[in-house]
Amino acid sequence: MKLIGLLIVAYLLGAIPNGVWVGKAFFHTDIRQSGSGNIGTTNTYRVLGPYAGTVVMVLDIAKGTVATLLPTWGHVTTIFGTATPLLFGLFAVLGHTVSVFDHFKGGKAVATSAGMLLAYNPLMFVIAAGLWVSLIYWTSMVSLASMVAFSLIVLISLGFHDWYLTGIAFILTVFVFYRHRTNITRIKNGTESMVPFGHGYQK
Ligand code: G3P
Repeated sequence: MKLIGLLIVAYLLGAIPNGVWVGKAFFHTDIRQSGSGNIGTTNTYRVLGPYAGTVVMVLDIAKGTVATLLPTWGHVTTIFGTATPLLFGLFAVLGHTVSVFDHFKGGKAVATSAGMLLAYNPLMFVIAAGLWVSLIYWTSMVSLASMVAFSLIVLISLGFHDWYLTGIAFILTVFVFYRHRTNITRIKNGTESMVPFGHGYQK
């Protein structure tokens, strides 16, 4: 019962649509109506600016981190043993992407997955964050940087000899590509939003 209860808490934490709620509460703006229409950090930054974007990024990472730490705090374990936190992180990612607070829609799983990584393997998180920022600088496209960073994380995770980590990183990478399919179309068409974000961007 405790396990199921905490998994539900992990899902509900992940389901908090920080971008939507911050936008509505402080800017009277629904970010789903502008930019890419996504509820995540990038679109918050694009629509509401760097301060709001940074707050949403921190909150979205934090919900993945807290959810992943729940089994440790609650002294709960599963058949997955030391990888049990990853199961909870996955529930947070599920909440973020299929949110009960957002008509069962949601974001693209980037920041919440990063939060999961922060709780499970902080060194891997630092490597991933460094890669992501470098790739944004290099490509000027957050979506492309996110997809390439996830792919590289799968390869780099092999060095940790943690097959649960590599397996989950692979599953999340496939999922992140799936969630970025409209971005992939825009990248192919040469119409993807570039950093720094300009005006007039159409979804
Ligand atoms: O974190 C999501 C990012 O990779 C792309 O966001 O708004 O450009 O579709 P967006």
